[in-house]
Amino acid sequence: MSNELTPEQVPGSVEGTANAAPATGSIRRPKTTGLTKGEVKPGVAKVDPILVVDAVQRRFGGLTAVDVDHLEVPRGAITALIGPNGAGKTTLFNLLCGFDKPNSGTWSFDGTSLSGVPSFKVARMGQVRTFQLTKSLSLLTVLENMKLGAPHQRGEGFWSSLFPFLWRAQDTEIEGKARELLTRFKLDAKEKDFAASLSGGQRKLLEMARALMSDPTLVMLDEPMAGVNPALTQSLLDHILDLKEQGMTVLFVEHDMHMVRHIADWVIVMAEGRVVAEGPPDEVMENPAVVDAYLGAHQDLDLGAVTGRIPVLEDAAAIRLREKIEAEAEAELEASDPASGTEGKGTA
Ligand SMILES: Nc1ncnc2c1ncn2[C@@H]1O[C@H](COP(=O)(O)OP(=O)(O)O)[C@@H](O)[C@H]1O
Ligand SMILES: [Mg+2]
Repeated sequence: MSNELTPEQVPGSVEGTANAAPATGSIRRPKTTGLTKGEVKPGVAKVDPILVVDAVQRRFGGLTAVDVDHLEVPRGAITALIGPNGAGKTTLFNLLCGFDKPNSGTWSFDGTSLSGVPSFKVARMGQVRTFQLTKSLSLLTVLENMKLGAPHQRGEGFWSSLFPFLWRAQDTEIEGKARELLTRFKLDAKEKDFAASLSGGQRKLLEMARALMSDPTLVMLDEPMAGVNPALTQSLLDHILDLKEQGMTVLFVEHDMHMVRHIADWVIVMAEGRVVAEGPPDEVMENPAVVDAYLGAHQDLDLGAVTGRIPVLEDAAAIRLREKIEAEAEAELEASDPASGTEGKGTA
């Protein structure tokens, strides 16, 4: 649908010159612009969408948690999904990556419909989301956690099952890749430590590094800044900006408006299950519908002045669902990766 772009329409083109700032330190990097076609309003078409959502509804009993008419996520940019507590952000996130099923609607990733596609297949297609380090993953070492993020082909192929050396070679390759990423995320010195021993910020880095093991095209981050010590905040921001620089698309849910302003190219605002606004960060925060959405939810805040954190309150039902989803996802990962069994343990 987007193969007839003029140069000005090419998505991912950045403001400024070709010699944009390098991927180091806290140098402010250019925002990606020119993402939309036509008037900016909820559901606006993107020049090159990577995710397209149509008429997706998710109900819990009498409550409609998600009711999205149309939504497109732009490729090659960083998109933030914001909104007051209970707006349906986590539910939408879970639907998009196959951890939950909608009551109705369709959605596609990279032009392929994802209806009924289980989460591990979605991940193989290049759409990954970060997992929180839950209890069981904390009891694995940092390196073992990384290996869990690798795509699982071992033993699946006919030839690999006949010739174990083929998967042994793959195992070495996976470890090499894991170490490379750990070095990039400054976690290499910790590879043999139990993940449980990491600080909050280091856990977030590990979650992100693990997601990169499968060479994704779309990385979905759930509250990447939650529980992160200010000392590591800049490093995390830089890593997220690096993902874009390396050609990946990022979609993240975040409560920290300061971070959203700083790194998002595009912001999607949800309230009561619907998309109530979208646009570039500075414009969206001024939008009366957005201010109303937050004030209507009795979260007494002035979006124009928010620079700190908004407290994250989740109800018990949502927390239980998330735990269930994560447990299932872990079981799935463990079942499909022989390396996560007993072998390699006890080396810490
Ligand atoms: N498993 C569930 N069972 C019942 N209600 C749920 C469940 N998950 C979410 N909800 C409800 O759906 C609404 C949206 O929740 P959620 O997606 O977690 O919002 P957000 O992430 O924006 O804070 C909330 O009212 C929440 O209580
Ligand atoms: Mg949530």
